[in-house]
Amino acid sequence: MKALIPAAGLGTRFLPATKAQPKEMLLVVDRPAIQYVVEEGLASGADEVIIINSYGKKAIEEHFSPDPELVKILKERGKADLAALVEYVGSLNVSYVYQTEARGLGDAVCCAANEVGDERFYVLLGDVLVPKNNMLPQMKVVSDAHGGASVIAVMPVPDDQVSRFGVIAGVEVSNGVWKVTKLVEKPAFEDAPSNLGVFGRYLLSPRIMEILKTIEPGVGGEIQLTDALDALLAEEEVYALVIDPNDGYDTGTPESWLETNNTLFELRKSENRIWAR
Ligand code: UTP
Repeated sequence: MKALIPAAGLGTRFLPATKAQPKEMLLVVDRPAIQYVVEEGLASGADEVIIINSYGKKAIEEHFSPDPELVKILKERGKADLAALVEYVGSLNVSYVYQTEARGLGDAVCCAANEVGDERFYVLLGDVLVPKNNMLPQMKVVSDAHGGASVIAVMPVPDDQVSRFGVIAGVEVSNGVWKVTKLVEKPAFEDAPSNLGVFGRYLLSPRIMEILKTIEPGVGGEIQLTDALDALLAEEEVYALVIDPNDGYDTGTPESWLETNNTLFELRKSENRIWAR
């Protein structure tokens, strides 16, 4: 099974910080946001982690490339621990496909259709972190229990934030597992079918790739993955797993990025995992 990490968006909510630096490369405590996501993909047992990048965001690829020169200098200066960190990040097994224009998340996912083939696959948004790496395995259990169906992670969101999310309608079939009957992208609060917002982790049936090829632009003029999932409901079952909000962290807006930094920093301190350099 492949794990796709879409990271080709424009990051407009962070401008001007993201004019020359990808949003996914912003620091979260001690490493760029996307490094957490790649580590999660690899920990999930995916046989390949594929970043969907844009040609303009070279910093992402540079981060995951080996840098023997830097390693040599660090070792010469007696900084073997830092050399090991640089070697480690350059050794993570990542490949790339490219989205030529930021036409939306659905379009980004569709760029990896050939790589995915006819297997289920994971999608991990590049600006959403799950540091415990525990969400995708839970989603796979739900998918396996329902004949390999698609599963999306959702979490309860406050009323005033519902219009920022894709939102599901459905019926709870077992504790925390919903059979989805409808999905709406960024509904007005009055139109939202529930307060369960799509969170940024998906396990998808390959059929979604065919649907994405036919989907028209939706909210914001973008090809929306949520719209394709709503269309998928006419053909296949889709389930939603309600996740513990403490397991996932958004970094997609300056406010959520700051909050995530603060929370993860405090967590690390309490676990005594902030190291001296
Ligand atoms: P977002 O909507 O949060 O990212 O997409 P964005 O579009 O970069 O941000 P704003 O709205 O302009 O501030 C969630 C993830 O999907 C990727 C983004 O890079 C992000 O990691 N994405 C989004 C793509 O890969 N391609 C797109 O066309 C849109």
